[in-house]
Amino acid sequence: MADKELVITREEIVRRVKELGAEISRDYENNRFLVVGILNGAFMFTADLVREIKCDIEIDFIRVASYGMDTTAGTLRFTKDIELEIQGKDILIVEDIVDSGRTMMYLANSFAERGAHSIRFCVLIDKKERREVDLCPDYIGFEVPGGFLVGYGLDCREQFRHLPDIYHLQE
Ligand code: IMP
Ligand code: MG
Repeated sequence: MADKELVITREEIVRRVKELGAEISRDYENNRFLVVGILNGAFMFTADLVREIKCDIEIDFIRVASYGMDTTAGTLRFTKDIELEIQGKDILIVEDIVDSGRTMMYLANSFAERGAHSIRFCVLIDKKERREVDLCPDYIGFEVPGGFLVGYGLDCREQFRHLPDIYHLQE
């Protein structure tokens, strides 16, 4: 098994998720909006975050995959699309990690084309230095320079998702 180094503890995650929930609740005031969690990576983060949001929300999930082998390969497609109506809605997309930003760009375009009234992104982890597109998440849990992270929903070939803390996986 690969070595891993603890980088974000469960306690830090709980504290930050509470802050994000409070900030989001303030920004949307009492407006209804639709939370869209990205499977599988953001399942835990989404579940924790929505419990800190004090607004009327709807919740749905999507799943995207890239055609290539690479985690950040070019062409993306939905392997599970949204089932609730998008048209005219304020949408908050909840993502685990933003790396190149290509997934975020694909989703922003896709939801805009389908008539979303507004689209914002809440990401647990931003690998800002690796960004390849001109798009910045609206809410960021933690900024990290790089490296491969696992735990709290994040996997490496489907391993480590269940861990309550976040680790840096050593090569
Ligand atoms: P992007 O399109 O390059 O921004 O890639 C974002 C996606 O790559 C995320 O949704 C994750 O699924 C995956 N990813 C990027 N970095 C990591 C990581 O460190 N651990 C686990 N998954 C990652
Ligand atoms: Mg993901």
